[in-house]
Amino acid sequence: MDLIVAGNWKMNMTLPEGREFLNDLKDYLSGKTIQSQLILGVPFIHLGESQGVKESGIYLAAQNCSQYSSGAYTGEVSAAQVESTGSEYVILGHSERRQYFGDSDHVINQKIREALSNNLRPIFCVGELLQERQNGNQENVVNLQLENGLNGISESEMEKIIIAYEPVWAIGTGETASPEQAEEMHASIRKRLGSLYTEDVAQKTPILYGGSVKPDNAKDIFGQPNVNGGLIGGASLKLDSYTELIRIAEELA
Ligand code: 13P
Repeated sequence: MDLIVAGNWKMNMTLPEGREFLNDLKDYLSGKTIQSQLILGVPFIHLGESQGVKESGIYLAAQNCSQYSSGAYTGEVSAAQVESTGSEYVILGHSERRQYFGDSDHVINQKIREALSNNLRPIFCVGELLQERQNGNQENVVNLQLENGLNGISESEMEKIIIAYEPVWAIGTGETASPEQAEEMHASIRKRLGSLYTEDVAQKTPILYGGSVKPDNAKDIFGQPNVNGGLIGGASLKLDSYTELIRIAEELA
């Protein structure tokens, strides 16, 4: 399957900064044929650019949506509102949402259901804490996150899901999982998807790696058999590092 080079801007980029980045990225892509799928997780304020960048092959994702459909939920943004911008993706279950905003497995499951009901493709993040890895518990933790987050999601809905494995100890720390550690967990996730669903679902679900992916380590990580691309934080904020990651993915295509 084609590699996915997904950025996550997190809470960065003002509206003018975001527009400048997207315009520069469009310029970079113009005249090139790109195999990889390009997705950028942006703050809600940038989602209005979704239609304008799609023709260049850039897909914008929200970084969250509400578990509720509509109504008196001040400050929230619904899946239907995200979809109405022309955005097709939403990042859900990111460890920063789990850690700072109390998104539990149950709430994440509700958000995934809400996203799917509104025709969005969830990029569903899972990953263990450092302590959990030190205890050798990482696969149990991730399996439980998968089972809870995907509770009630049907086999046909799985066609819309992208999984992102992001070990929490590797996010924003400069420390990356080794290619072997990433491959081992991705293989374990695929195996779990096979037992929760079917072997076909397991093989077709893209599994991205996230956590300090940079141009100097991307080739080894993207090159692992069960790694289908990256969810990239810091290195997606600068045009030259993001385009370098695209170039590396293209080389592996
Ligand atoms: P960094 O690439 O900055 O470590 O962030 C990873 C991440 O959290 C992507 O969602």
